[in-house]
Amino acid sequence: MSNSANSGLNIRKLRVEYSSGQPALGEVNLQVPEHGIVTIIGPSGSGKSTLLRAVAGLLPRYEGDLLFNGASVHHKETLIGLVPQNYGLLPWKTVQANIAIAMRITRRSEKSRQERDRLVRHWLKSMGISDLADRYPLSLSGGQQQRVAIARAFAVLPTIMLLDEPFSALDAITREALQQLFLDNWLEHPATTLFVTHDVEEAILLGQRVIVMPADKQDHPAIIENETVFGMKHEDKRSSAAFFEQTKVIRKVMQEKW
Ligand SMILES: Nc1ncnc2c1ncn2[C@@H]1O[C@H](COP(=O)(O)OP(=O)(O)OP(=O)(O)O)[C@@H](O)[C@H]1O
Ligand SMILES: [Mg+2]
Repeated sequence: MSNSANSGLNIRKLRVEYSSGQPALGEVNLQVPEHGIVTIIGPSGSGKSTLLRAVAGLLPRYEGDLLFNGASVHHKETLIGLVPQNYGLLPWKTVQANIAIAMRITRRSEKSRQERDRLVRHWLKSMGISDLADRYPLSLSGGQQQRVAIARAFAVLPTIMLLDEPFSALDAITREALQQLFLDNWLEHPATTLFVTHDVEEAILLGQRVIVMPADKQDHPAIIENETVFGMKHEDKRSSAAFFEQTKVIRKVMQEKW
């Protein structure tokens, strides 16, 4: 992994105001190493989704610089995959069509229909939802829709992957299983990733760096290095002393920032 100052995703002096004129987030300065994962936690309304929307190119106005390897992140070569907070699936298309359409639109590969179908099956299998291929999103549970949205995000092989609380509203066991599936997929296709969660433990388990967004928008986010836990075998993390220590560190920062 390269760590030079310009590599990966660089967010410099990002400020966003919606039409009200109130800041939507505390100014963000952040580097996500290329092929790295940074997790973001913060109270409701602290601007986590706004930060992802800015990087995704969905905001008409913002101040500051959003760079990938030194060039604008919105350069057309940089494909950005977003898993929005509400999953963003097309309700009138089946699960497999949702994934196939995303692959076609992003033109990551000019593949034959057969090849695309094969890849769709591969990604469904990788998220443990092969049996849902012909279902429609609104007939699925929230957790199943989340799996489809993640399969779709990986299927387009994005340069940058943005996930907005992708495992919210899941029971603890399902959530742990999905964290593992997500990491397995990510290790095979390590997109440069920003992952929003409201769960401290999830932030520590999945991020090599953890950002704590402040409640006060005059304040800045805190950045906590987490390489020690990140570098461990995933199944060993939760029971490790380093994980326990990091939980204490981050809870203390949260008390200061929230
Ligand atoms: N389209 C919009 N127009 C005006 N204000 C907005 C808009 N979207 C978000 N905001 C405001 O910007 C701030 C940040 O919102 P954002 O949705 O980014 O927070 P969040 O951290 O993702 O919250 P949550 O944890 O509830 O998802 C909030 O004060 C919110 O009210
Ligand atoms: Mg949000």
